[in-house]
Amino acid sequence: MEDKFIQGFSKLSKEQKLKIISDRLVDDTDFLTELNSLNHRNPEVQLMLEQFSENTLGNFPLPYGVAPNFLINGRYFTVPMVTEESSVVAAAASAARFWSEKGGFHASVKSTTKVGQIHFCWHGESAALINSLDELKVYLEENSRHLTRKMTERGGGLREIELIDLTEFLDNYYQLRIGFETADSMGANFINSVLEEMSSLMKIFFSRISESGVEKEDLEIIMSILSNYTPDCVVECFIEAPFSSLSTIHEGFSGEEFARRFKLAVDIASVDPFRAVTHNKGIFNGIDAVVLATANDFRAVEAAGHAYASRSGKYRSLSRVELRDDVFRMSLELPIAVGTVGGLTSLHPLAKWSFEILGKPDARELMMIIASAGLASNFAAIRSLITHGIQKGHMKMHLGNILSVLGASAEERATALGYFENHTVSYRDVEQFLNKQRGGQ
Ligand code: MEV
Repeated sequence: MEDKFIQGFSKLSKEQKLKIISDRLVDDTDFLTELNSLNHRNPEVQLMLEQFSENTLGNFPLPYGVAPNFLINGRYFTVPMVTEESSVVAAAASAARFWSEKGGFHASVKSTTKVGQIHFCWHGESAALINSLDELKVYLEENSRHLTRKMTERGGGLREIELIDLTEFLDNYYQLRIGFETADSMGANFINSVLEEMSSLMKIFFSRISESGVEKEDLEIIMSILSNYTPDCVVECFIEAPFSSLSTIHEGFSGEEFARRFKLAVDIASVDPFRAVTHNKGIFNGIDAVVLATANDFRAVEAAGHAYASRSGKYRSLSRVELRDDVFRMSLELPIAVGTVGGLTSLHPLAKWSFEILGKPDARELMMIIASAGLASNFAAIRSLITHGIQKGHMKMHLGNILSVLGASAEERATALGYFENHTVSYRDVEQFLNKQRGGQ
């Protein structure tokens, strides 16, 4: 049935919403059965899941897997990953195993400061704004303490408050850029609450000093919101090994040859944005999967990562390779703003278990684990690309998916896997193969 405008959809009950949507489908019974079968067995948990979002009809499952054997700073981790893409977990796990024999991943957190912004226009004399800045900062800090006290007790809170003059780009446009430490939480709610409070306080502050030449209308608050660009919340991670230990990776390549080709592949992603985007996508295959498994905000992490990749003015690879004194060193540096408390981290029924599987890391440890998963994914992708290509592994996984869709039995699956070792995989070919097995055409 054709779609038409639906008045007041959000106000309807779940049953009413389901009825409207399913009435438009050819096979509504199958749709409802499918949705029902995916509901959580515990109605309270189901209700909680539904309340995470709006207009919820049911759950949309994604595979939840683990990549074991991640040796990070001398400690082993089993890393939970949520991804729909075949080969991502296998690739990360294989790179983790490979590097576990070579000292593993070395990770460190460079900084953890996040940024909030109050965007405003100043319609008065700029000197009046600049001259009141010191007093304004003290006023904002003192009067927002009821919101920052608890965070300060946890080691976080407000950091620097800066006035940024952007009037050369937009008439009268300034911002207060405010640094925040948010301890083990991602901190979005905390930062946004403080910013909104501060923007109200700014209005009061300037109306109070109006006697000293500043007019009430000089200040026009536009908006107050955290920035998802977090270039001062950065994690660094590297792997390194002598060339000689890379000689077993691919028959026909010495360790040195492998390292040289590998570096060239990464350098290409530093000079060509078309390649850089795909290269970085490979890094985010690992990163997003862990960010999702821990119920963190993968859009925020992605957005910050891509902006960081452009910090030189050109979009580049987030990872680097150096070859020095017969040693291969691959490193990754990027901003990762995540939390281990707050948000959905303790509410999502599986995120809780992800933290248990990871041994209850704090936010800094989680940053290092996520970066290691990104570096592992990147290493595995480049390793395949510069040797046998990625289609070999991908197609094996793809074949598995096609066989599942076509309802192949265990026996049919085994025969198909054998046959397609030496034949190109396509949906049509696999379907024809199964049909033949089943005595059809
Ligand atoms: C596929 O999901 C990721 C890769 O394209 C990454 C890359 O090209 O580096 C294999």
